[in-house]
Amino acid sequence: MAEDLQVVEGSRADKYQALIPQVAALIQGETDLYANLANIAAAIHEYFGFFWVGFYLNKQDQLVLGPFQGPVACTRIPYHKGVCGHAYRTQQSIIVPNVDEFPGHIACASASKSEIVLPVMDSAGEVLMVLDVDSDQLNDFSEIDREGLQAIIDLIEKNYTSWY
Ligand code: SME
Repeated sequence: MAEDLQVVEGSRADKYQALIPQVAALIQGETDLYANLANIAAAIHEYFGFFWVGFYLNKQDQLVLGPFQGPVACTRIPYHKGVCGHAYRTQQSIIVPNVDEFPGHIACASASKSEIVLPVMDSAGEVLMVLDVDSDQLNDFSEIDREGLQAIIDLIEKNYTSWY
């Protein structure tokens, strides 16, 4: 694996373009699920300086906190709750420009103002986990983030079957 991250300057789209191959290099040859998810969360967090970046894994009939970077967070999210639960139920990514206007948003930290959540699907069409990225700025996420983060999700979906 590559052991450091080359953070480029430029637009957010430029940054995703530079980050995605580095994420591919980070996970190449590593088969530990938590090691890979931890490095992916750290890479996104370091690259963009988002307030919170992490995974909630689908287990025990709920979403359970996995590897993340940022302040401590709620550990368990029921499927019917929050933005993460919405992404789980719809199996679609969601951008929330203002979390205070999202019914049922789970406020882990009052500093979190906007967020994007993307599901990671397994080959049977079930949600394996969700990637949750929170910003302390209102309206911080756009289709550029959806595309860039989806490319990282694609890498997970392509490789997770050999992760344990
Ligand atoms: N924002 C999430 C809760 C998790 S924290 O933000 C880390 C939600 O409403 O699903």
